[in-house]
Amino acid sequence: MNLPDLLQINLKNKKVIVRVDLNVPMKDGEALDTSRITSLIPTIDYLCEQGARIILISHFGRPEGKINPEMSLKQLLPSLEKCWGRDVSFGDDCIGPQAQKIIQNLKSGDVILLENLRFHPEEEKNDSQFAQALATLGDLYVNDGFSVSHRAHASVDAITQYLPSYPGLLMTKEIKALSQALNAPQKPLAAIVAGSKISTKLDLLKNLLEKVDLLILSGGIANTFLKSRNIAIGTSLYEPAMLETAKEIEKIAHDKQVEIILPIDATGSHETQNFVTMPLSNLPDSFKILDIGPETVSLFKTKLSQARTVVWNGPLGVFEVPPFDQGTTAIAQTVAELTHDGKLFSIAGGGETLAALTNAKCSKKFSYLSTAGGAFLEWLEGKKLPGIMALIKNKPQTC
Ligand code: 3PG
Repeated sequence: MNLPDLLQINLKNKKVIVRVDLNVPMKDGEALDTSRITSLIPTIDYLCEQGARIILISHFGRPEGKINPEMSLKQLLPSLEKCWGRDVSFGDDCIGPQAQKIIQNLKSGDVILLENLRFHPEEEKNDSQFAQALATLGDLYVNDGFSVSHRAHASVDAITQYLPSYPGLLMTKEIKALSQALNAPQKPLAAIVAGSKISTKLDLLKNLLEKVDLLILSGGIANTFLKSRNIAIGTSLYEPAMLETAKEIEKIAHDKQVEIILPIDATGSHETQNFVTMPLSNLPDSFKILDIGPETVSLFKTKLSQARTVVWNGPLGVFEVPPFDQGTTAIAQTVAELTHDGKLFSIAGGGETLAALTNAKCSKKFSYLSTAGGAFLEWLEGKKLPGIMALIKNKPQTC
């Protein structure tokens, strides 16, 4: 990808506006998941070492263009300072004279976080005046928020028209890992796609069929495929309106020689029993599938051992309710081990997927975990992400 290179720029004393994604789950003033914060350490450290003056801008939640104290970014300061081991000051607004004034007083290596961009309705409208007001705060712009790059918002898109703009180190790393997995993978390439609905992952499935050799399905998505093959799924979740679509996908897969792999047994609840394993060839009417069974775990393991690259989105079962996390955990451990042994390049993304891998205690062994949810899905759908396109389109002439 033809992106400009931040590492070639003299940053000494430059006021650098860095678009980050600090949209992290919080409870009682603490970040519950700090992965988006820790992933920014290389960029923050680099900019500080280079002597830049760092102005962080982010959204937090969906305040719908209104000031909402519950969605103030100020509550993140303790988590940021703890994670980054640095002082971070705060500006009560992301534009205007007050923001200008405190930024003027920043010294080389100082870091300031400005208040939630989405307190201004113009942010989500990609408003050019708002983007210009943001741009006046700095000398150059860095986008390090891959996870928000699917939003054509002023701080992601329009701002690149008014300042020399560069991808940050995290953005560069995400693009490199995702490109390695999907655009130039070592073959065979497998995708694990799970989740409740085909309808929300239809574009993703269609795009993946163009690229993968193996498509491993689970969850409600797999149930719809099973049902469309006339395999009984009891009272399990599926989408009646998607049965024909499932057949069409099977046909495309067949034409493209993509192997679709579905579960062959399941664990779930049946009448008064809460945890039963049964083969899918013979499922009673009252059985509810909640996870893949041991035979499916073996099948998926065998298939994954033949792959060289895997892309994973979606937990395989109802992992939040043990013991129905067992299938996801077993497959996560397999992918982790194959990766650790150098046999597989593995990448996973999406909030629920990462929670399931964390639950399986092996997420660190994956080749790469994306910090993105929606942006990861849109990348898998093959969409052009506005935040990345803006960096390419407005690439500084000197690069
Ligand atoms: C995310 O958490 O996926 C990003 O921060 C984007 O948030 P949004 O869906 O509210 O735009």
